[in-house]
Amino acid sequence: MAERYDLVVIGAGPGGYVAAIRAAQLGMRVAVVERRPTLGGTCLNVGCIPSKALLDSSELYYLARERFSHHGIRAGEVGLDLGQMLRRKDDVVKNLTNGIAGLFKKNKITFVHGQGRLLGAGKMSVQRPEGRSTELEAPAVILATGSEPAALKALPFDGEHVVSSTEALCFKTVPEHFIVVGGGYIGLELGSVWARLGAKVTVLEFLPRILGPSDAEMAGLVQKALQKQGLTFHCETEVVGHEYKPEAQARDTAEAGGVKVKARSHGKELTFQGDRVLVAVGRRPFTEGLGLAEAGVVVDGKSGRVQVDEGFQTNVRGVYAIGDLIAGPMLAHKASEEGIALVERLAGHKAHVNYDAIPSVIYTAPELASVGLTEEQVKESGRQYRVGKFPFAASGRARCLDETEGLVKVLTDARTDRVLGVHILGPRASDLIAECVLAMEYAASAEDIARTCHAHPTLSEAVGEAARAAWTAALHI
Ligand code: NAI
Repeated sequence: MAERYDLVVIGAGPGGYVAAIRAAQLGMRVAVVERRPTLGGTCLNVGCIPSKALLDSSELYYLARERFSHHGIRAGEVGLDLGQMLRRKDDVVKNLTNGIAGLFKKNKITFVHGQGRLLGAGKMSVQRPEGRSTELEAPAVILATGSEPAALKALPFDGEHVVSSTEALCFKTVPEHFIVVGGGYIGLELGSVWARLGAKVTVLEFLPRILGPSDAEMAGLVQKALQKQGLTFHCETEVVGHEYKPEAQARDTAEAGGVKVKARSHGKELTFQGDRVLVAVGRRPFTEGLGLAEAGVVVDGKSGRVQVDEGFQTNVRGVYAIGDLIAGPMLAHKASEEGIALVERLAGHKAHVNYDAIPSVIYTAPELASVGLTEEQVKESGRQYRVGKFPFAASGRARCLDETEGLVKVLTDARTDRVLGVHILGPRASDLIAECVLAMEYAASAEDIARTCHAHPTLSEAVGEAARAAWTAALHI
């Protein structure tokens, strides 16, 4: 006999698990189906969290080696214990995934471990790891199975030398030459980690510039900052093939071992010889084994994204989809917002997601955080606009921290002063952007931000000053 619930969620990532908790808070009987033994999805297990743990550790290592002496700290010889760094990362992940299991218990959510498959509206089966299958029924089913790394035909994953982000979080030794294909979020973050730990890093990007969707000026500054840290960039470079030669075999022929990546750039053939290659050219919705075709759920043929209406419902009544499976940026917090809005609507509340105010953060050093329109998008919209900028070099707190690289850029409508977009490259940009997201959520003007009192001395003063620059004129520059 099938087990009955008010809601079944397939996928326990930041979309699915958050939706489940909110639904339970609203009084629903909820089950979550997840094929991994741990909760948290890509984000907690092999994405945002482990990458940030390594970014933080590698940043400390870099600071201890390169910057402590400037602060007057003599640390002696700084060494790397990569094993401990990886163990700490794994502990952070374990702690947080266990934390979600605790939240499930607290909220009386049933965790069904196994591969979920839709059998039609309101029905599904779960193939359990031990072999048996369980049938579940619910009037509402949320598909939240996220995404997987997109593969390149010319450079297929082999799990060891040509890898996705999952394996690049666990290298047991620092690569000598780490080749990164794709100058996007993952490529730049993981490229930064291994560069700080001593690898030579080369980024190959297909488009004329890295971070294509970001504000062009800010993306250019990120590239400059990373070049100063030793990363090398080749834009307009297309990977066309590869060869792999094991070290031992290479020694016999006196050639270099590892992976030879063959590329084409401006009509020229190029080769890059490295010991590890990360392919980070985007992600694709993960729907394998979900039974979408059999259940009749319509999927966009090109992008693989599930099509939903404004209430996140697919063309099959009672079957909903959120997060990386549907259109929009593939970001954990976007998925969570959708999950919350969806279950609140199911419970009869009014809820929506404001897609114009979803922040994005790239955790390089300095960090790049953005919300709203880029300058290119503002120009394209044909509006008259103003730009206010304030460099961190003019911020007292940034000087104390010795983190003066970067700036805040505020874009406003010249007629109304309304904030259209904010881009922050600098220390703790990931936290500073929150104020700007709130400002945009409340449809603030630059004057509103400028007249908001910012504590002194803080990095947030740079946000106030950039807003002031867009409205009238900054005071400290
Ligand atoms: P991405 O979309 O950020 O970047 C992929 C890059 O690869 C683009 O610049 C693209 O032009 C380039 N590219 C595509 N095909 C190529 C080819 N054949 N050769 C060379 N370059 C090629 O995708 P990425 O970095 O794989 O990240 C996937 C998703 O994960 C993103 O959508 C992002 O939203 C999310 N993510 C978010 C993070 C964050 O919020 N901090 C961190 C990591 C990932």
